[in-house]
Amino acid sequence: MSKVEVMPSGREISFHEDEIIVSKTDLKGHITYANDVFLRVAGYTESEILGKPHNVIRHPAMPRCVFKLLWDTIRDGREIFAYVINLAKSGDAYWVFAHVTPSRDARGACVGYHSNRRVPHADALDKVRPLYARLAAEEQRAPDPRAAIEASSRLLADTLARAGMDYDRFVFSLSTGTSLAGAA
Ligand SMILES: Cc1cc2nc3c(=O)[nH]c(=O)nc-3n(C[C@H](O)[C@H](O)[C@H](O)COP(=O)(O)O)c2cc1C
Repeated sequence: MSKVEVMPSGREISFHEDEIIVSKTDLKGHITYANDVFLRVAGYTESEILGKPHNVIRHPAMPRCVFKLLWDTIRDGREIFAYVINLAKSGDAYWVFAHVTPSRDARGACVGYHSNRRVPHADALDKVRPLYARLAAEEQRAPDPRAAIEASSRLLADTLARAGMDYDRFVFSLSTGTSLAGAA
């Protein structure tokens, strides 16, 4: 499905540290539920957002390789924590720290996905912003989307491996204060 193009405004907004932005999707990533905080921060009404692909709030600065990692992980039945910059309907950007999990029925079959998002700590974003900027720049040099994902996935893996990490450990390190020093 094509998405309405929202032009980034260059402004950043945020939400309260006690709030949680929640959405649920079907197996294809179409939104089946969005809580009031989601609607307020993203600036959409429920009827505008339900049934839409989740990329409706995709920010162009987000590296594709992070979404590939997200989908590979949840399709494999695992949970992922990830930093994501999103685009509100107004064009304003907002960073989230997301926990995305598969939703299962009573028999254990995966029936969709669920994301809970909190405000990221500013010092975590100080590490995430330059990493994502390098990944996005790497993608822009690639001739097509497929090559872009391959190139940035490689750069992400290599960068984190130099610090002895994978993406999970990187995310965990940001909450414990370990750094990516030496990896950049
Ligand atoms: C439960 C769930 C939550 C998601 N949340 C977001 C989100 O907050 N922002 C976003 O850009 N993509 C989110 N995605 C990923 C999108 O489905 C999509 O992969 C991403 O926006 C990249 O879109 P593109 O492939 O069209 O570039 C989520 C996916 C799932 C399953």
